[in-house]
Amino acid sequence: MRVDVVSIFPEYLAPLELSLIGKARQDGLLELNVHDLRTFTTDKHRTVDDTPYGGGAGMVMKPEPWAQALESIANAQAAAIGDSSDGPTKPVLIVPSPAGERFNQALAYELAEEEQLVFACGRYEGIDERVMEWAAGHFTVRPVSLGDYVLNGGEVAVLAMVEAIGRLLPGVVGNPESLVEESHSDGLLEYPVYTKPSSWRDRDVPAVLLSGNHGKIAQWRRHEQFRRTAERRPDLLVEFDAGRLARADRTAFGELGYDVVDGRLRRRPDGDLPD
Ligand code: ADE
Repeated sequence: MRVDVVSIFPEYLAPLELSLIGKARQDGLLELNVHDLRTFTTDKHRTVDDTPYGGGAGMVMKPEPWAQALESIANAQAAAIGDSSDGPTKPVLIVPSPAGERFNQALAYELAEEEQLVFACGRYEGIDERVMEWAAGHFTVRPVSLGDYVLNGGEVAVLAMVEAIGRLLPGVVGNPESLVEESHSDGLLEYPVYTKPSSWRDRDVPAVLLSGNHGKIAQWRRHEQFRRTAERRPDLLVEFDAGRLARADRTAFGELGYDVVDGRLRRRPDGDLPD
């Protein structure tokens, strides 16, 4: 996969040289290029922002430096693959923004299938909206939000997204099994984990994990996923496909106050929990 990031703070992306993502880059699994938006300005002060039309607080990023930056990335890629960048292989342009669609594991998997991702890191009050309209001629444009809070710019969001997407690329995570069992891979939170010693500061590891009974361990872990998700993220259970749950799993959900109705989990009204 090839990733291009455009930012006025290229140094912000330095952590992508470390750890698993840094290793993936060294191994040629991920090609990552960071571009300084200011190199695409033409004035002496390398200006990237201006006051907003209509008034209001803050500054807005000027459109032309963005067009120059994105055009140079689109042209470089078209030259590299010997193809027109407005053909069916348009790269995805991700614009981190609190006004975008929510980033989640499903989107990480979807984006991990792409050949090229371009990230446009806005700062200040954002990028002139016409850039996104114009860019749709070269890219599939997707404004994406990390969550319902506001960061100072897109860079931190890009660090999170590139890590979440990059670790899904084949060969990046040593043991692909660990991708299967982690939180959100099946719409549930991950079960709790323990290591040696089996007794620590008067706290024992749950006995089932020492039993050697792999069937029982798998069921315990699954039910811990149900319990954790019901407690911490009940919103995830609304989407959960409960149609094919085994009887023991239905019972476990029953004890947590959920019934299966038409293949979906339905929370029993409060006060209607079993004793
Ligand atoms: N830029 C500012 N806030 C953001 C957020 N919540 N997600 C993605 N990019 C952002």
